[in-house]
Amino acid sequence: MAKLKSRYVCQACGGVSSRWQGQCPDCAEWNTLAQEANVIGTPFAQKHDLQSGGRAVELVGLDAVVALPRRISSGVAEFDRAVGGGIVPGSVMLLAGDPGIGKSTLLLQVSARVAAAGGGVVYVSGEEAVDQVRLRALRLGLGGAPVRLASVTSVRDILTTLGSGEPPALLVIDSIQTMHSDLIEGAPGTVSQVRASAQELVRFAKDHGTALILVGHVTKDGSIAGPRVLEHMVDAVLNFEGERSHQYRILRAVKNRFGGTDEIGVFAMESEGLSEVPNPSALFLTQRGEPVSGTAVFPALEGTRPVLVEIQALTVRLASGATPRRSAVGWDSGRLAMILAVLEARCGLSFASAEVYLNVAGGYRLSDPAADIAVAAALISSLSERPVPPETVAFGEIALSGEVRPVAHGALRLKEAAKLGFSRAWVPAGLDGKGIELARFGNLRQLVDQLLGR
Ligand code: TYD
Ligand code: MG
Repeated sequence: MAKLKSRYVCQACGGVSSRWQGQCPDCAEWNTLAQEANVIGTPFAQKHDLQSGGRAVELVGLDAVVALPRRISSGVAEFDRAVGGGIVPGSVMLLAGDPGIGKSTLLLQVSARVAAAGGGVVYVSGEEAVDQVRLRALRLGLGGAPVRLASVTSVRDILTTLGSGEPPALLVIDSIQTMHSDLIEGAPGTVSQVRASAQELVRFAKDHGTALILVGHVTKDGSIAGPRVLEHMVDAVLNFEGERSHQYRILRAVKNRFGGTDEIGVFAMESEGLSEVPNPSALFLTQRGEPVSGTAVFPALEGTRPVLVEIQALTVRLASGATPRRSAVGWDSGRLAMILAVLEARCGLSFASAEVYLNVAGGYRLSDPAADIAVAAALISSLSERPVPPETVAFGEIALSGEVRPVAHGALRLKEAAKLGFSRAWVPAGLDGKGIELARFGNLRQLVDQLLGR
């Protein structure tokens, strides 16, 4: 084989260049190209004699495929829901999420349920020792589940081990960034290592009908670290999302060859692991308790990711003529002043003798003007002591004229709110949406009338 020159692989997208460049020509990221050693030998080349012209494969008609793949229930309904109704044997899933969000916990729980139902499960941790995993299982009350554990990082060792026995129904690799394939040089976690390791494991899964779940950590900017290359190698990509300081976690399929991508699974992280939240609406309602005045829910977007955020306002009437305070946490104070001014000038409300406090719950920072309407609704609600009706989200930008203006991704926000159990939305005029009752406002005054029941 002719000796290949060294190559440079983008650690963000996997693009290959023959020389080093500051910017990746494929994905335009800066400083992501890293020199990587050459392929020592690909398993494909080892397995097949390319000189002989290959072997003839059987060509079948579309109509020959009659049986739908039978799915294995993970025993965790919210997980099944997110993946489209259960785990497909021989399928490969990537579970991506921030470090510490609960990926290992979720998969340990899924593994234990599948194993308890009689499916063989192998859980490979490249991050924790077997005893650590066992201790966690014990703490989760899963100590008795017949999951087989290993703490290994060598893909060859994993495949050798699995090849000697009955192939498991489910194989969990936690995480793919810790795996190492000796067919390729380079440290674990580099794009070429992640890709090579995944390729080997995927081939095993497809050959043996084993469902494979790969854990992938994501980087700060939200992409799956390095292996965006993995996304097209797997059948499904599941994102596990949430704020670490918050209890709630959302499992969302962003790609799924065997099901839709619009179902989500909702969990709460508790001291005994992840519990399922079958009715997400209840999640928000219990969190919010009885409807109180001064709160409104805004469907925010983080990148393309919708997150529902609660906005809280408190107005306190001052008896004396002292200058009232205005304080905003998680929201621009200049924009708060603007909304107050529009409410006074265009809608006849007076905040002049009231202190105003605005807070975005959970430590979120909002900079999206689409939240104007929700902020206004919280302020009006607090001032009038009339709660915003329950299960309502609100979004729309407010102009100085008092006009309510359309915002980006209205349909996406509505879809997310409906999915999370909200039944009503207060939106700018002209927006359409299915599955949720809309109240449309062309002007802020109409919103005030609605809230005050005028
Ligand atoms: P983990 O599953 O290790 O996250 P990941 O694999 O995504 O990195 O979970 C990390 C956090 O979850 C950990 O910081 C503590 C919390 N946790 C609980 O609150 N309750 C529990 O029962 C468990 C196991 C973890
Ligand atoms: Mg982990």
